[in-house]
Amino acid sequence: MSLLGRSLLDTRTLSAEEIDEIFLKADLLSRALRLSTPKEASELRANLKGPVVCCLFFEPSTRTRMSFQMAAYRLGLQVLTMELSAGSSLSKGETMTDTVLNFAAMKPDVLVVRYGTSRELDSLLPRLDIPVLNAGSGTMAHPTQGLLDAYTLRQEWGSLRAKRILIFGDVLHSRVARSNFDVLTKLGAEVGVFGPESLLPSERSEGGLMGEYGIRAFKSLEDALPWADACMGLRVQLERHETKELDAADYLARFGLTVKRLKLLRDDAIILHPGPINHGVEFAPEVIDDPRSRVLQQVTNGVTIRAALLAMILGH
Ligand code: CP
Repeated sequence: MSLLGRSLLDTRTLSAEEIDEIFLKADLLSRALRLSTPKEASELRANLKGPVVCCLFFEPSTRTRMSFQMAAYRLGLQVLTMELSAGSSLSKGETMTDTVLNFAAMKPDVLVVRYGTSRELDSLLPRLDIPVLNAGSGTMAHPTQGLLDAYTLRQEWGSLRAKRILIFGDVLHSRVARSNFDVLTKLGAEVGVFGPESLLPSERSEGGLMGEYGIRAFKSLEDALPWADACMGLRVQLERHETKELDAADYLARFGLTVKRLKLLRDDAIILHPGPINHGVEFAPEVIDDPRSRVLQQVTNGVTIRAALLAMILGH
C-alpha cells in the first residue's frame, strides 16, 4: 500500500492492513520525532525539507489545527495556516469553494481542510490535483481523529480484536463517532453507543449506519459501562442543534460520566474523549484526573498520527 500523493478524506477508503501500516509508521516516527533522538529527527527533517503544507480551517479547532502544525514542524515542513477569523477574504463574501480553489492554485504539496456541512466541498476535494487531508468535515468524517483514537487503544492493548468500545453522548452530530465506527470495527473491536434518544443516529436518517457497523445501542450507562473495555465521551455539539440551550446538571445526571458511574468501569478500562471537553456536562469535572483517562495521550498521538500521514503522503 502507498499513501504517496493520495488524499485521506474518509477512513472508509482505508483497509485494516493500510491502517496497520499507518500505525507502524507512527510507531517509528514517535521514536524519531522525540527530542531525545536528535540525529534521527534531523535526518528525517533533511529528507523532507521543502514541501509546504497549507491548512485551511473553516471551523474552529485547537487540537487538530495545532497538532497538524506541530507534526509538520517536527518533520521540517513549511506550514501556512488560514483560519476563519484571520482576516481572509471570506469576510468579503468569498465562498469556501473559491478559497479552496485559490489555495490549491498556489500548489502546496498537501492541503489540510476542516469545514462544516458543504456538499460543494465534499464534491470538490476529491477532484483536486493535490493530496488533501480531511481535518473534520461536518458531521460526516474526522479520519485523523478516528485513527489516533484507535492508535491510542492499540498502544494500551497491542490489538483491538474483540475489545469492546463504548461511545456515549451526542453521537448523532459526531464526525468523530462515524470515523471511530469505521476504524474500530475494521480492527476487530465491538462498538456500543449510549446517549439521549434524540442524539443517536436513527437507522432511517443515517442510511443504516448502526446496522452497517453492527453497533450495539445501550439503554443506560449502568448497563454499558461494565460492558466496556474503553469508553469515549462526546461533547454535546450545541452549535449543530436547533435548540441552543442545555441544562448541564440535568444532562450530566442522566447521560454523563459521573463520579458514581466511574465506579462501574473496570479498573483496567480506558477513558477517552476527542475534545473539547465540556466539564460538568458529558464528564464530571473529576473524570479527567482519573488514572484510567488517556485524554492527553490522545493529543500526543494526534501529532504522531498526523506526522505519519504527512510523511507517507510526501513519500518519506
Ligand atoms: N478533536 C478535535 O477535533 O478537536 P479540535 O476541534 O480542537 O480540533
